[in-house]
Amino acid sequence: MSPFHVTRTLPEDASSAALRADVLHGLTRLPKTLPPKWFYDARGSALFEEITALAEYYPTRAEREILRDRAPEIAAATGARTLVELGSGSSEKTRYLLDALTGLETYLPVDVSESALTLAGEALLAERPGLDVHALIADFTRDLTLPEAPGPRLVAFLGGTIGNLLPPERAAFLSAVRALLAPGDALLLGTDLVKEEEVLVAAYDDAVGVTAAFNKNVLSVVNRELAADFHPDAFSHVALWEPEHEWIEMRLRSRTAQTVKIRALDLAVDFAAGEDLRTEVSAKFRPEGVRAELAAAGLRRTHWWTDAAGRFALSLSAAA
Ligand code: AVJ
Repeated sequence: MSPFHVTRTLPEDASSAALRADVLHGLTRLPKTLPPKWFYDARGSALFEEITALAEYYPTRAEREILRDRAPEIAAATGARTLVELGSGSSEKTRYLLDALTGLETYLPVDVSESALTLAGEALLAERPGLDVHALIADFTRDLTLPEAPGPRLVAFLGGTIGNLLPPERAAFLSAVRALLAPGDALLLGTDLVKEEEVLVAAYDDAVGVTAAFNKNVLSVVNRELAADFHPDAFSHVALWEPEHEWIEMRLRSRTAQTVKIRALDLAVDFAAGEDLRTEVSAKFRPEGVRAELAAAGLRRTHWWTDAAGRFALSLSAAA
């Protein structure tokens, strides 16, 4: 049995320091915002897994279709000995890559969610005892330092999670990825594509209410971690399409005028009736826009694949 190590790139309390900073920053200015990475405690990660099975939430199925059909091409184009997966979550779709990459020695999943990493790592190791699995608990938007691993390396950033970053954050992130790549290494990037507003909004506002529960879960995280007294049901779930930015926004709308206390920050936050707290941006892309953003970061796109319905894309890039 090969080893399964988990490495924290940050001390145990660093994520709570980062949460404090994000909550203080985001709730003391207008419009109020919280970054989406704080959705993913154990409950949030489980709710996201439920979302991926919803009829309305097409991105996971569309991306799985592309990976299923294209994994052999991806393997042939990269010949990777190391697979780095940023935002790996349950690592469920990754299995197509792991199967196709016949020379693979090391799998490096990187995620903010320790619970997701541990669950996924243990399941994988049971299936593939020969694989060296080294999980990294890290916020890859802040620090992209990776342990030594054999090349060629394939860095995968799937699910459309790049859409959670704002345009300047995306540019900085892609440049940081570019700086990681040696000759022969590659980036596999998943991007959700612009489509009809009804389809997009339904994907973020499902009939059963799982996405609403996922959205409100961030308030439970702040309650638990920072001794706050949010009443999740005093907010309603909102998903809307912003055509000028071509992104979906998730918001929590205060049902009434209310004051929330955040004891760990010694802070009282006033919400007006109907005031929104933005909890997520999920950008949708066009083929030319993806190419241009990659090029601006010094990355040359070599392949572009979509699912048969043209809803989602995977692109493969190398250092330019
Ligand atoms: C995991 C970031 C890709 O933006 O579609 C799902 C998260 N938010 N439903 C996305 C999410 C609401 C998801 N990503």
